[in-house]
Amino acid sequence: MVAPPAHLPSPAPALGNDEVLRIRNDFPILNRPVNGQPLVYLDSGATSQNPTSVLEAEQEFYEQRNAAVHRGAHHLAVEATDVFEDARETVAAFIGAGVDELIWTSNATEGLNLLSYSFLNASLPGAPAEAARFALGAGDRIVVTEMEHHANLIPWQQLAARTGATLDYIPVDDSGALDLEAAARLIGPRTRVLAFTHASNVLGTINPVNDLVALGRAVGALVVLDACQSAPHLELDVKALDVDFAVFSGHKMLGPTGIGGLYGRSELLNAMPPFLTGGSMITTVTMDRAGFLPSPQRFEAGTQRISQAVALAAAANYLTETGLARIHAWEATLGQRLVEGLEAIPGIRVLGPAAGRERIGLAAFDVAGVHAHDVGQFLDSRGIAVRVGHHCAQPLHRRLGLTASTRASTYLYNTTDDVDAFLDAVAGVRPYFNA
Ligand SMILES: Cc1ncc(COP(=O)(O)O)c(C=O)c1O
Repeated sequence: MVAPPAHLPSPAPALGNDEVLRIRNDFPILNRPVNGQPLVYLDSGATSQNPTSVLEAEQEFYEQRNAAVHRGAHHLAVEATDVFEDARETVAAFIGAGVDELIWTSNATEGLNLLSYSFLNASLPGAPAEAARFALGAGDRIVVTEMEHHANLIPWQQLAARTGATLDYIPVDDSGALDLEAAARLIGPRTRVLAFTHASNVLGTINPVNDLVALGRAVGALVVLDACQSAPHLELDVKALDVDFAVFSGHKMLGPTGIGGLYGRSELLNAMPPFLTGGSMITTVTMDRAGFLPSPQRFEAGTQRISQAVALAAAANYLTETGLARIHAWEATLGQRLVEGLEAIPGIRVLGPAAGRERIGLAAFDVAGVHAHDVGQFLDSRGIAVRVGHHCAQPLHRRLGLTASTRASTYLYNTTDDVDAFLDAVAGVRPYFNA
C-alpha cells in the first residue's frame, strides 16, 4: 500500500517552519543540489513537486494493476477500474463536486477547450435541442478578465470568432484587482459565458468569486472558474462557490503531469454535446450514428490517464491530510514576506496587491534595467528556481506596461529561509548587472 505522509498533521492554524522541514522529507527532489547549491524551488505556480506517496501510487498502479479500465472482464481490469473510479471519488470530494461531475482532462487548458468546443458544437446547425442553452451566435457575449492566463482566454476568443459572438473583458485596476463596476456594466442580458480565474498566476490577486457569480447568475450566464491557482492552495468547494464549471491541473497540486479535471454541474454536462468522440463514451453505434453515455464517460473518449488519476488522488489525500486551510495560511505568510522583502529592494516593482493586502503565496516583479531572463539566470546560478517571461498572460503584462516579469511562487514545502535566500539574491541583481 501507499505510505502516508511522513509528517504528522498538526492542529496549528498554519504550517510553520518546523513542520515544513518535516514535509520536505516527503519530496525527494528537494534534496538535490542545483548548480552546486541547495535547491530553492520557487516555481510551484508553474508546476509543483511530488511527494513520495504520489510517486509510489503511480508506480504501484503499474506494478500491480495496469490494465485498461471499464471494458475488461479480467481481474486486473476490474482492479484498475476500481482504483480509477476511487480516484475520481477522492478528487471530486477534494473540490466539493459529485462523482459524476468530475471529468478527467490532460490539464486545465484541455478542460477549457473542452467547454469551448462543446459550446461550438452546440452552436452548429443540427445540434440536439437540449444543447440549445450552450449555443452562441451574433449578438451574444462572452466575458473574461484582463488577468486571464492564455488558457482561459484563447479558447473563448476562438469560440467568439467561430460563432459571431463578442468577447469582452473586465479590466484590472492599478491595485491589481478587477474593476467590479466595469464588470457590472459589462455583464448584461446577452452575456452567455462568464469565465474568470479564481487567483491570478501573475498578480496573486484572489478574485471575489461570489460577486462575479452573482453578476453572472443575474443574467443567466454560464459561469466558468479557472481554479488552477486556487485548487492547490486553498479549500475549494465548487458547490459553495456556485460556479457552473471549474478547471484545475494536477501537476500544480502535487500530482503528475498529464492529468487535470473539469467540474461541471451534472445537468449541464449531460446536456452538452461531446468534445472528443470515439471509444468508451457511447451507448449504441451504427454506421451512421452514435448515442452518448452520460457524464463523466460522455467526455472521456479513448483510453484514459489511469495511473495519473490514481496518483492525483494520492496528491489530493496528501493535501487534505496536511490541511488546505493551514497550507493557505502558511503561503499567505510567505507571500507577504516575499512582497515586503521585494518592496524594500531599490528598483523592484512588485506586480499586484501591495504588502498587507490579500494575495496567494506568489509574487511577480520587474527589476528596473534588468531583463527578466537575466534575473532568472542570475537566480538559477544560485540554485533558486523561479519563472520568467509573460507567464502566459501577455494582455496583462501589456496592461502593466511590461513584456516580461520574474515570478517566485511558494508551496507547502517552502520555508521562510527559502524566501530569505531568494530576497538576498534578488538584492544582488541590479548591482551585478550595473543597473
Ligand atoms: C491561472 C492559470 N490558468 C491556467 C493555467 C494552465 O494550466 P495548464 O498548462 O496545466 O493547462 C495555468 C498554468 O500556469 C494558470 O496559472
